[in-house]
Amino acid sequence: MAQTSFELTARDGRARRGVIRTPRGEIRTPAFMPVGTAATVKGMMPESVAATGADILLGNTYHLMLRPGAERVARLGGLHKFMNWEKPILTDSGGFQVMSLAELRKLTEEGVSFRSHIDGSKHMLTPERSMEIQKLLGSDIVMAFDECPALPADRDRITQSMRLSMRWAARSREAFGDRPGHMLFGIQQGGLEEDLRGESAEALKAIGFDGYAVGGLAVGEGQEAMFSCLDYAPDMLPEDKPRYLMGVGKPDDIVGAVKRGIDMMDCVLPSRSGRTGQAWTRRGQVNIKNARHADDPRPLDENCTCPACRGYSRAYLHHVFRAGEMISGMLLTWHNLHYYQELMQGMRSAIEAGDFAGFEADFHAKRAEGDI
Ligand code: GUN
Ligand code: ZN
Repeated sequence: MAQTSFELTARDGRARRGVIRTPRGEIRTPAFMPVGTAATVKGMMPESVAATGADILLGNTYHLMLRPGAERVARLGGLHKFMNWEKPILTDSGGFQVMSLAELRKLTEEGVSFRSHIDGSKHMLTPERSMEIQKLLGSDIVMAFDECPALPADRDRITQSMRLSMRWAARSREAFGDRPGHMLFGIQQGGLEEDLRGESAEALKAIGFDGYAVGGLAVGEGQEAMFSCLDYAPDMLPEDKPRYLMGVGKPDDIVGAVKRGIDMMDCVLPSRSGRTGQAWTRRGQVNIKNARHADDPRPLDENCTCPACRGYSRAYLHHVFRAGEMISGMLLTWHNLHYYQELMQGMRSAIEAGDFAGFEADFHAKRAEGDI
């Protein structure tokens, strides 16, 4: 028994509705994964994250290996127990975070050595060590170890980087071994070059993974270029396996990605922007810092059922943000994650009903009205 599976239950155009089954629970797709980098979704209790409708969280190899350390988490019973989250966890593999966060990075065929951005200590990550760390954490969905150049990068750099990531993907597969109940996802690279995306997809399919990510996007190329890439990249990956777009995105990015055949996404945006006074609603982005909210007795969104909208006015949310009160980030994060999960549920229902186009038209029409 494999103990994990992926089933597609409906389609509408290229959009897909499905379910990933794991021993820790089912993940309804299209799925949005809140980011819990340091074993917490900042400002949220795990039960509150679950109450927003999240089936799965994302954790980070890079951050957790540095603090508190993967071996320590393992001794304490694994990441789920440590952070009090019983549902599935996907962990990113570390290479991408090293390249954006760490100091004095050195990339070789073997892996990447670097100094911690926290205390300057020296570390090395390889495909083998990344697989070991993700096993120590007890991750349900493990990501292959990869790297990705910031765009724009020249074609030669993108090619060499993609081929290195494919050699690392093969080593990741080998080191992961056979772990019933856990899934290993490969990561497609190749920048915005269609033929390189194709070469990468073929390399990953030859190795064989339980799911496939589209990596190397949302790194500064802009929405139009990203959508152009998503017009072909997901279809290069196996039809019968989940497809995960890494690090995306804003609500309109997410709708466009699902339309193009993406099943899973993650982004810090709803939680991070909640802490900087930004809310996301059906009518677009609301900046709660703005003085126009100071006397406004209405909720952020009169149709939202989240605790921030049921119990508090815009005036209150404005006040606690201005006063630097902790509850500000807590309430806005809750609202944002609730909105994101409602967006996903709306898309899942629309795909089932065969009306994704109608959903998309409504989504854009509401945003065009703006915050009123
Ligand atoms: N997060 C966002 N993009 C990427 C990527 O290309 N690779 C990995 N490992 N993580 C990501
Ligand atoms: Zn709300």
